[in-house]
Amino acid sequence: MKMPVTLNINNTTWNLDIDANATLLEVLRNNVLNQQSVHRSCEEGECGACTVLMDGKPVNSCLVMAASAQGSTIITSEGLMRGDELHPLMKAFVDELGLQCGFCTPGMVMSAYALINQWEDEELSDMDIRKAIEGNLCRCTGYVNIVNSIRRAKQAKDAGNWW
Ligand code: FES
Ligand code: FES
Repeated sequence: MKMPVTLNINNTTWNLDIDANATLLEVLRNNVLNQQSVHRSCEEGECGACTVLMDGKPVNSCLVMAASAQGSTIITSEGLMRGDELHPLMKAFVDELGLQCGFCTPGMVMSAYALINQWEDEELSDMDIRKAIEGNLCRCTGYVNIVNSIRRAKQAKDAGNWW
């Protein structure tokens, strides 16, 4: 059964006709939206590879029914780019070697983006960072560089280099 749903994805509003039982992950990766940064892995909410922001909060898109996202604002990793320009957070991952195979990276980036956007205090400890990405598993296990990347990204935001 098909049903209509309206989603704002990376600042574009889409009126979609979706399968009633489709997950947000499936809809984001379909031929129309083609958000390939939203990775499909466990599909059980365990790995965080499919993390996107839904109304500003990180969610596992494999656990969200697309129909229930009606009217929501979704941001994927693609949505952080400015044309070909990497977001400062992505640039920090490159500079600090925060990615190895890269499979977990878009989900990590979205969790980190939500953390840094909402962080009011000056000090962002490694423990704060680790807590924010505890739902994102890196099979390559390079967590030290990932934490360094996020700390560097926070410094970029503090310096006004952020969007
Ligand atoms: S694919 Fe969604 S949490 Fe693993
Ligand atoms: S960089 Fe390979 S899974 Fe994280």
